[in-house]
Amino acid sequence: MADDVITIFDTTLRDGEQSPGCSMNTAEKLEVAKALVELGVDVIEAGFPIASPGDFEAVQKIAQKFGDRTVICGLARCRREDIDRAWEALKGAEKTRIHVFLATSSIHREHKLKMDKHEIVDAAVEMVKRAVDYCPDVEFSPEDAARTELDFLCEVVEKTIDAGATTVNIPDTVGYATPSQFRHVIAHLKENVSNIDKAVISAHCHNDLGLAVANSLASVEAGARQLECTINGLGERAGNAALEELVMAVRTRADYYGCRTNIKTSKLYPTSRLISHITGMQVQRNKAIVGQNAFAHEAGIHQHGMLQERTTYEIMRPQDVGFVGTNLVLGKHSGRHAFRDRVESLGYDLEDASLQQAFDDFIALADKKKEIYDADIVALIDNRLGKQPTGWKIVSLHTSAGTGAVPTATLEMRYEEDEEVRCDAATGDGPVDAVFCALERITGISARLHDYQVRSVSSGKDAQGEVSVEINVKGKLYHGRGVSTDIIDASAQAYLNALNKSLPENDQRSESVVTENVTV
Ligand code: KIV
Ligand code: ZN
Repeated sequence: MADDVITIFDTTLRDGEQSPGCSMNTAEKLEVAKALVELGVDVIEAGFPIASPGDFEAVQKIAQKFGDRTVICGLARCRREDIDRAWEALKGAEKTRIHVFLATSSIHREHKLKMDKHEIVDAAVEMVKRAVDYCPDVEFSPEDAARTELDFLCEVVEKTIDAGATTVNIPDTVGYATPSQFRHVIAHLKENVSNIDKAVISAHCHNDLGLAVANSLASVEAGARQLECTINGLGERAGNAALEELVMAVRTRADYYGCRTNIKTSKLYPTSRLISHITGMQVQRNKAIVGQNAFAHEAGIHQHGMLQERTTYEIMRPQDVGFVGTNLVLGKHSGRHAFRDRVESLGYDLEDASLQQAFDDFIALADKKKEIYDADIVALIDNRLGKQPTGWKIVSLHTSAGTGAVPTATLEMRYEEDEEVRCDAATGDGPVDAVFCALERITGISARLHDYQVRSVSSGKDAQGEVSVEINVKGKLYHGRGVSTDIIDASAQAYLNALNKSLPENDQRSESVVTENVTV
């Protein structure tokens, strides 16, 4: 077995969360952190503590809760107040890291920072030392390293290692690098930085040219032993390198890379689903490793080959990544025992109350749908995952629509367990629009629909529909999701889920206070 271990540094909660519309509240971040710990990531970059009180709180809570199992990292610019704030959030936890960054490329030096090379080196060294005074595990990132002059990059890396950095991360901040060029950057550092063996070299690649994973893997060939990545490749613009792709490339081609990771690969698919569920960011069907089609063989010749010998057309098994297909599993008469076994084999570890809830949902679904697939069960469980926002609930929903008729929705709702049931009706362009208008009338929240997507969870005319929406309420984006065999009902659930998230009692997000010097 390959024994050269690659450290997996997950930045879903920091760089990933910076994706437009992907911000999460503290409860959601804690849930993601738990999944990342269970997945086996080595370092979780939990946030940027100085950016906002919400970020600070999330890093602090994640450090307190999971800092005994996984290294929890907080990001800081090369500023005293950033580093102090990062440490304030992390202190008390067992395994912590401060990640300090400062841009080094000429474009950033001249136009953004207005600092010369000496000033950059001095600031980086001083701030790495400050971080080391708090915490022995310090990472330094020369932002936009891939566009930095190589001799200057070597100087910065050497001096920050001297100052105590234990990891030097080489970011391709704007996704400009190509694989052989990036390999050369890492190889050059290995050859020309005298103290390079005192630190771990890391790669942090963005995907603007679709090369983030290729560039990260090229860095491994040259000696990088930490990879920074996000689940589903979430991240600013085109995103970061996708964790699941890196991990499975290293594992499937261990013959070539001679390395391994600590990731429990059978948790990749459930973790991908969770992140997609929480952020509302759908995974494209043909996405490598975790897309719905990733293991589907359509061509007859492939199917024939697979029946003779799986490896003719399959380099990984679906179960290696915990992939859940559409295999038929249960029906109306399957008992609780069979249900629990199935849920466990799908990678869920539910407490008794959640299992009971899932079983009740399953029985209700079995009344509407003859055949229940793995994907249906996953959708039911995901739909209940996490802390549901408090707020409005639908008591009854009625719609009417048809050619020549005015689409109308009539709704009865109550706020939490209030006695009072409020009733209202609205018309719209279609039945879904009418439902959305009626929901807004009763809740008193006015929202703008940004995105609406519906997909079928499994196959067949009676399949469940999964609706995800993104809405804008007072300038902030919220995601919602709903699942039902009736897509109008699923749409209502999704819209209400998003509206409830915007209620002040659920929305702990605060505006970022960092407005300059952050392009990450
Ligand atoms: O892309 C980037 O340069 C970053 C750094 C903070 C590592 O995210
Ligand atoms: Zn980044």
